[in-house]
Amino acid sequence: MHKLDVALGERSYPIHIGRGLLDAGLIREHVRGNQVMVVSNETIAPLYLERVTAGLDDLRCDTLILPDGESHKNLATLETIFDALMANRHSRTTTLVALGGGVVGDMVGFAAACYQRGVDFIQVPTTLLAQVDSSVGGKTAVNHPRGKNMIGAFHQPRAVIIDTAVLDTLPAREFAAGMAEVIKYGLIRDPDFFQWLLDRQPALAAREQAPLAEAILRSCRNKAEVVAADETEQGNRALLNLGHTFGHAMETFTGYRDWLHGEAVAAGMVMAARMSSELGWLDRADVERVRASLAAWSLPVSAPAGMATADFNDLMALDKKVQNGRLRLVLLNQIGDALVTGDYDPTALTRTLEAFCER
Ligand SMILES: NC(=O)c1ccc[n+]([C@@H]2O[C@H](COP(=O)([O-])OP(=O)(O)OC[C@H]3O[C@@H](n4cnc5c(N)ncnc54)[C@H](O)[C@@H]3O)[C@@H](O)[C@H]2O)c1
Ligand SMILES: [Zn+2]
Repeated sequence: MHKLDVALGERSYPIHIGRGLLDAGLIREHVRGNQVMVVSNETIAPLYLERVTAGLDDLRCDTLILPDGESHKNLATLETIFDALMANRHSRTTTLVALGGGVVGDMVGFAAACYQRGVDFIQVPTTLLAQVDSSVGGKTAVNHPRGKNMIGAFHQPRAVIIDTAVLDTLPAREFAAGMAEVIKYGLIRDPDFFQWLLDRQPALAAREQAPLAEAILRSCRNKAEVVAADETEQGNRALLNLGHTFGHAMETFTGYRDWLHGEAVAAGMVMAARMSSELGWLDRADVERVRASLAAWSLPVSAPAGMATADFNDLMALDKKVQNGRLRLVLLNQIGDALVTGDYDPTALTRTLEAFCER
């Protein structure tokens, strides 16, 4: 088993990573009061809920099963969580346990931030994306009909318990989408990890335990370091958005239906690499390495069918990162060295969009 800490002073917390941790009593260790509510969804609960509640049997333990899907990550579902907490008389010393992917984790985290002005919560992430990204760092939110993650809060969990065995049941496409975020850490700040991932692609695709645990550990360590240095994204935490500005435009264009988030991020990272080379920062050969690292996972590396440069321009103009009319982007000086900047030749962006949208 591996353990690392997210160093945030009095809000610090551990991340535990290992096979079989659902049954290891770790969740119980991080509950401070005598009451818990385990929240999951209709896909994950039949697989794993009983194992989680079995370890909490000396507490007053309630469960809540939400419908599955991003379309339910909204205020209406949040209200069902509050209703269940009220109906079962949960006090300020209760602990919420989020058993699921990023959708469950984001919603339960936000519910914990709001209920009685803030209660404890524990992340038990069950997708690769949630294990390496969304469960760490304290960003919680639900969607508004007019924008993703628009209603939320920073609220750090008490602990993150990562059982790598739950990935055995994760569909291959979801697994690959999580890998896009894993590769992202290599690209933004860990060049050795990027190469390590290239070398172990077949072993990781076979979900071999040792390299898989190592990949999750190194991802979490990178995320924990970034978050510890900039908890509320005043600066370098924005580097974690490599590929995301392009990616969000593609997710919106495809109506959040055709592409998974990680898939859009994969294509977006190739675009960011290409633009970095248009600016003369990144070698052409490195753009190809970035592309190949993602293509090996059958992740998309070009824009969705039918998407034109005008679509990108319109959708990216709405991005939260537009400051004073200039779009700030995460770009690459080199593989393993990213920067956030609005100071670039805008024709490099135009050339990149044209290259990606031509067909
Ligand atoms: N808070 C953050 O910092 C942050 C970062 C990145 C993404 N997110 C959010 O995360 C969400 C995406 O998360 P996701 O990719 O985990 O999607 P998800 O939570 O929708 O899970 C994907 C699918 O896999 C199923 N599933 C989960 N675990 C499984 C398992 N072990 N076996 C079988 N099926 C399983 C889920 O039920 C779902 O159908 C988005 O809402 C995004 O905004 C948040
Ligand atoms: Zn992401």
